Amino acid sequence: MFDLAPDPSLSKPMLYASLARSAAALVEGERDPIANMANLAALIWHSVPGLNWAGFYRAIGDELVLGPFIGKPACIRIPFGIGVCGTAAASGAIQLVADVEAFPGHIACDAESRSELVVPVISSGRVCAVIDLDSPELGRFDEDDSAGIALIAAVAAQFL
Ligand code: SME
Repeated sequence: MFDLAPDPSLSKPMLYASLARSAAALVEGERDPIANMANLAALIWHSVPGLNWAGFYRAIGDELVLGPFIGKPACIRIPFGIGVCGTAAASGAIQLVADVEAFPGHIACDAESRSELVVPVISSGRVCAVIDLDSPELGRFDEDDSAGIALIAAVAAQFL
């Protein structure tokens, strides 16, 4: 059993540091990328409040392909450079979007999504996946969230 009870008194940076330790413990000794991505998506979903989608897209060729996630069924293939995820994959830069309707080319997989955070997973100098978080709240994500999810992306880079 894995205890998923983040201490609500922790600051966001402390909470994400704790989450990153949990992520590292979850994947330790396991090389199967699907199993590890599935567990990391579940860890994020149960630890980060205010989400309606949390999961992975994998970089395969010149497009992103849907990976393990929690939320409503989502679009399966996203070309590099298209949408929030494709922009993160093409640029290698974190995309912190306060209002998805203001992001040119945003792909609406769940009509409830209002804000989005996409963090590239970079391994051996290339983007091998992205972690995508959606929220029904406008402006849900800040720099603490992007720095925190980057810690989880660093864990994912070790097995992807
Ligand atoms: N909104 C994303 C597509 C993926 S879903 O949010 C799960 C985008 O614009 O790339």
